[in-house]
Amino acid sequence: MILTTLLTSFSETSQLVWNLVIGLIVFFIITYVIPAIKKISSLPPGPWGLPFVGYLPFIGKTDQYKDINRLAKKYGPVYSVRLGKFDLIVVSDWKHVKESFANDDLLYRPENFSSNPKSPSLLEMSGDSWKAHRRLSLHILRDVGMGKSQLEMKVKQEIENFLPTLNSGPIDLFPKLMSTVANNISNLLMGHGLEYDDPISEKLNNVLLTLGESSSLFHVFSGSVPKLVKDNPLESESKLPKILKSLAEFANYMEKEIEIHKSRGRRSQIFEDYIGGYLVEQEKSEKSKSTDGIQFNLETLRQNLVTFYSAGTETISSTLTWAILYLLKYPEYFDKIREEIEKVIGYERQPDYSDRIHMPWTMSFIYETHRIAALVPVNLFRRAAQDTNIGNYHVPKDSLVMFNFYALNRDPLLWVNPEQFDPKRFLAEHETKAVKPPFLVPFSGGRRNCPGEGLANVELFLYLVSIVQKYRIRLAPGSTISLETGYTTLRRPKNMPKLLFEPLDQQKD
Ligand code: HEM
Repeated sequence: MILTTLLTSFSETSQLVWNLVIGLIVFFIITYVIPAIKKISSLPPGPWGLPFVGYLPFIGKTDQYKDINRLAKKYGPVYSVRLGKFDLIVVSDWKHVKESFANDDLLYRPENFSSNPKSPSLLEMSGDSWKAHRRLSLHILRDVGMGKSQLEMKVKQEIENFLPTLNSGPIDLFPKLMSTVANNISNLLMGHGLEYDDPISEKLNNVLLTLGESSSLFHVFSGSVPKLVKDNPLESESKLPKILKSLAEFANYMEKEIEIHKSRGRRSQIFEDYIGGYLVEQEKSEKSKSTDGIQFNLETLRQNLVTFYSAGTETISSTLTWAILYLLKYPEYFDKIREEIEKVIGYERQPDYSDRIHMPWTMSFIYETHRIAALVPVNLFRRAAQDTNIGNYHVPKDSLVMFNFYALNRDPLLWVNPEQFDPKRFLAEHETKAVKPPFLVPFSGGRRNCPGEGLANVELFLYLVSIVQKYRIRLAPGSTISLETGYTTLRRPKNMPKLLFEPLDQQKD
């Protein structure tokens, strides 16, 4: 009797448990599985990955852009790939990249893009904060000279100081370029540059180099996979302490500059550099107690300074280094550029930026360097602010979007013999003009394009032409040319040879 009662009660309890389990399974299927299947089937095509980590374990620890590009070849111009907890949508042809540039729903950055999440810089911000900081930054930089003739004058002064330093035996060009190029952005940001032998200049160079070598664009996926998963491209995690230390050193330097500016006091709204302009705005926004949530604070100023300084130094120095390597590899273009210098500028005066209009070979050489170097092979991640489309493909809110510039620069539908270095491809009208096609986009495009494009163009032209005007460039004994590339966030020359810069006299060589 007791046994029967126990059995009945047990079977009722187990029935209840079963019902509960089945209910939970149905709930799980309705809440998670069906929406997940719906989402996956609405995404652009792409490879399958593993549970929790997606395709991350199959992305290499280095040269990740090559894996991104390998998948584009297999899955087409717009594909999706699950990386950790993110869906990444990769856009690899001009039709869809162009359309994406114009899509204002694709202007956000990933939420965890900044190593300092409480105070991201404008490069890492999204939404209204980004808009306000970008507008303010461009406004200040324009006011203090960016895009104006006074900037060109200052760059020319800097080049005049720099050129003699090349004539000092076998040299490592890249660090020298970094010091001089950094002075141009420093002038705009804090009103002064540094002497090349100033220990601070060397220290900042080292910090930049460490950051360049240790950071990875793909760090956004850190923390998006279980700790147990080791096999993913998050090698930057182990480098994180190094990165944070370098960033702190960098930020300290900027902090000191801000303090110097503040201690000077201000008698008016007039300012001479980015720090001055930002402090004026910060004071205004403090007084007006704005309620729109946009904060112009000292922490963000510091972060913006670090961003502008690093973005404005490494990119230009690396592009110039590529240009010099290609001049060494293909000396016939050195001769072409020198012929144009002789015809248009001569050897007495410094080059002007306006000379470029009459120097099609030189401009073609610069365009081709941008194309083949593909310094930024895959763009900084964007994030969809809301559900949107790229062509016929659905892009769900919060998916990450990446433009594959490497694929564009080597697309055989856009370029004849894309693997070949051939500046002639840009020449038009019987070699009297250099024409840059719209699909060569080293600075990205649309409303979140690179704000330093104007400055970069001036510097690239003036530095290159000034060097070729003054020097014959040779490999130092024992050095060889290598076009091998190293990649973290930029594609840089992996092995830069030691070089000799031999002054050319006033005659054509
Ligand atoms: C050869 C030189 C350069 C190249 C190839 C380059 C390329 C780029 C690219 C591809 C982006 C990403 C834009 C996007 O998300 O679509 C970018 C962003 C940015 N660049 Fe440059 N850049 C160069 C020089 C500079 C210079 C000189 C500065 C400083 C004045 C600068 C400051 C920035 C900043 C602040 C951003 C972030 C913009 C934002 O998120 O709103 N860059 N750059």
